[in-house]
Order: sequence, then C-alpha cells, then structure tokens
Amino acid sequence: MPVLVLRGVSKRFDQRRWVLRQVSLQVETGERVVLIGESGVGKSSLLNLCAGLDVPDEGEIVVAGRPLHGLDDTALAAVRRRSLGFVFQAFHLIPHLQLWQNVALPLLLIGADEASARENARAMLDEVGLGERADSLPGELSGGEQQRVALARALVHRPALILADEPTGNLDPQTAAAATNLLAEQVRTRSASLLMVTHSAQAERNADRVLRLTPEGVVPA
Ligand SMILES: Nc1ncnc2c1ncn2[C@@H]1O[C@H](COP(=O)(O)OP(=O)(O)OP(=O)(O)O)[C@@H](O)[C@H]1O
Ligand SMILES: [Mg+2]
Repeated sequence: MPVLVLRGVSKRFDQRRWVLRQVSLQVETGERVVLIGESGVGKSSLLNLCAGLDVPDEGEIVVAGRPLHGLDDTALAAVRRRSLGFVFQAFHLIPHLQLWQNVALPLLLIGADEASARENARAMLDEVGLGERADSLPGELSGGEQQRVALARALVHRPALILADEPTGNLDPQTAAAATNLLAEQVRTRSASLLMVTHSAQAERNADRVLRLTPEGVVPA
C-alpha cells in the first residue's frame, strides 16, 4: 500500500510562474525514497505540500490513505501529528526544553500521558545513542548530536512517513553519513517510509529509489 500519493500536483506562488507542474509520485510503505533536483526546482515546496503546510493549485495528495484535499487546518494538523515525522536542515529543537522533552513533544501532541511519553522519549534517545544526555539542553550538544535528537523526535510517535529536507546539510561529511545511516536503519526497523531531499551520496546508497525533480516532473535519477 502506498503511504504517499501525489497525482498531477501543481503549485504556483504567483499568477504566471508555476513552481511544480503536474507532479506525480508514489512512496510505498517501507520504501526509502531520495529526491534530488536543482536548487529552486521546488523540492521543499513539494515536501510542504505533502505535509499539508501548503495547498496545491491542482492535483491531489493522499497521506497514509487520507486525501488532504478539503481538510481544514485542524484536520491537516491531525494528519501531520499522527502520520508524519519531520527532519530539517536546521534542527529546530526547542532550546529551553531538555532533550527528552523535545523528543516527548510529538507523543504529548497525540495525547500520550506524560509518564509514557517520558519513558518512550528516553528509550528513543537510547536508540540514537544519546540516552545519557536525556536531561541536557540542545545548546549543550554538537550539531551531529542535535540532529540525532531531531531524528529521535521525528521517529518517536512511529509515523508512517518521515519527510526530511536536507537533514544533513549542516553537518560535516562524516557526521552526515552517520546520521544518514542511522535514519535509514531506524526507518527500516520501524517499517516506516522516508521521502528525503538530499545531496548526500550516502543517502542515495541507502535509498530504495532515487528520483529527480525537474521542471517537467519527477523522473528516475
Ligand atoms: N512561499 C513562497 N512564496 C513565493 N515563492 C516561493 C515560496 N516558496 C518557494 N517559492 C519559490 O518556489 C521556487 C522553489 O522553491 P523551493 O524552496 O521549493 O526550492 P528547492 O528545490 O527546495 O531549492 P533548494 O535546493 O535551494 O532548497 C523558488 O523559486 C522559490 O523562490
Ligand atoms: Mg529546499
């Protein structure tokens, strides 16, 4: 079963200039897909549409069996919280919250009680090798460590699909490769799916499929 379907999705930010034109793609459950393409071609815009953070001008998007078309903001937020995990280039951890609190947030947002959220967050931090640092603040960590916390936060609520936008863009190549391997491994063991925008060769090696976004649509890379 596909976890993500885009059919004929188009998007423009002003009247004339189309950023995405008739984009169709499908990500199967358990699949890890890397999306590449030139700067400005619309990769981040495409992820935003998949996340329901923006609305296409044409076409339809289905996330975990749920068509996004016509959902109001509350319903879109619910899809996001239940079915999606996000990793960004800038890690976007909340600076005044301890690591375990950052990781617990997605669980609390879907109504987990505090004790189980805390326990699961700590277990997830263990999985990314930061269990001992659970009570630290993000600012006390290296960039690579912060990104591992961000990965933990994206995975902790067992979303069907992880959307990642150049998640290793701010890391040195060695740290980036380690983070990429960790993400691929976690996605695999959790039977989640991954759609990742990246320029990392290591990420391409870990992917089941590499696609290229071009002004003419999505093609195999
Ligand atoms: N909110 C917006 N309003 C107007 N134009 C936008 C908006 N978001 C993106 N764009 C434009 O859409 C185009 C695609 O942007 P996008 O960020 O999706 O590219 P990208 O493929 O992610 O590029 P990069 O690899 O540099 O991150 C760009 O020309 C950008 O200026
Ligand atoms: Mg981008």
